[in-house]
Amino acid sequence: MLRNVFFPKGFVTLVGAGPGDVDHMTLGALKALQTAQALLYDALVSEDILALAPARCVKICVGKRGDRLSISQSNTNALMVKLVERGLHVVRLKGGDPSVFGRVEEERQYLEAHGIRHKTLPGVTAASAAAAQFQFPLTHRGEARALTFLTGRTKDGDIDLRAEGVSDPMTSLVFYMSSHNVAHIAETLTNAGRTADTPVAIVENAGRPQAQLRTGRLAELALLVKAAAFAGPVLLGVGAAFAYARDIDLTVSTVRYA
Ligand SMILES: C[S@@+](CC[C@H](N)C(=O)[O-])C[C@H]1O[C@@H](n2cnc3c(N)ncnc32)[C@H](O)[C@@H]1O
Repeated sequence: MLRNVFFPKGFVTLVGAGPGDVDHMTLGALKALQTAQALLYDALVSEDILALAPARCVKICVGKRGDRLSISQSNTNALMVKLVERGLHVVRLKGGDPSVFGRVEEERQYLEAHGIRHKTLPGVTAASAAAAQFQFPLTHRGEARALTFLTGRTKDGDIDLRAEGVSDPMTSLVFYMSSHNVAHIAETLTNAGRTADTPVAIVENAGRPQAQLRTGRLAELALLVKAAAFAGPVLLGVGAAFAYARDIDLTVSTVRYA
């Protein structure tokens, strides 16, 4: 049986919810959510996952989606502390894995500066969910010996060419937050030495029933993204491993085991 007695009064659990499907949550994440007294969640956390929290739990969306207006990071931090000071178990629920472009370190440091105890639970990052759903590897013997996660959106709008492997054909690149910047990414990678025929895969809503895959070559990346007119979260994969992406029957990837 799940009880609240396992943690002291006033505690924060920073939880990775995975990319949307309840089946991608860890058992620890599920238990934390079921014992939450206050829940601060990201915009990308699905309704199905939110429904797992107790009905009496306070639920507040603190999510950020691209350029849209949302609560600032400093307000989220302050809210966490305010709720914890009431003696609640606060769950800070993040999409995917908290340690991948999740600002988790900023939140941990803030909690520590306020003397608040906390624990972090990992989650399935969107790249892993996309790879499983569309059946491509992220590394592949002899073809992709390294993997780099990058952000397509930095403060100055550029991608970081110092990142290890950007020009190495044996490195798989996965871009998060990249859908508005694909033409620039393609041009930058080409200038860095990636060939025009490098395989690319673009996955929208990875891990969810409405997921979509587009595949092609680096030279046509911008056109592929424009034609798809994605509305959901999008990941971009560049490198040899992405040539294995399969246009699968989505009813197979949503098969349940109970
Ligand atoms: C702020 S980052 C958070 C990443 C998250 N912590 C993770 O581990 O997946 C948000 C970006 O992650 C990617 N993303 C998150 N969920 C996704 C999904 N279900 N499908 C495709 N991309 C996703 C998108 O690139 C989105 O812009």
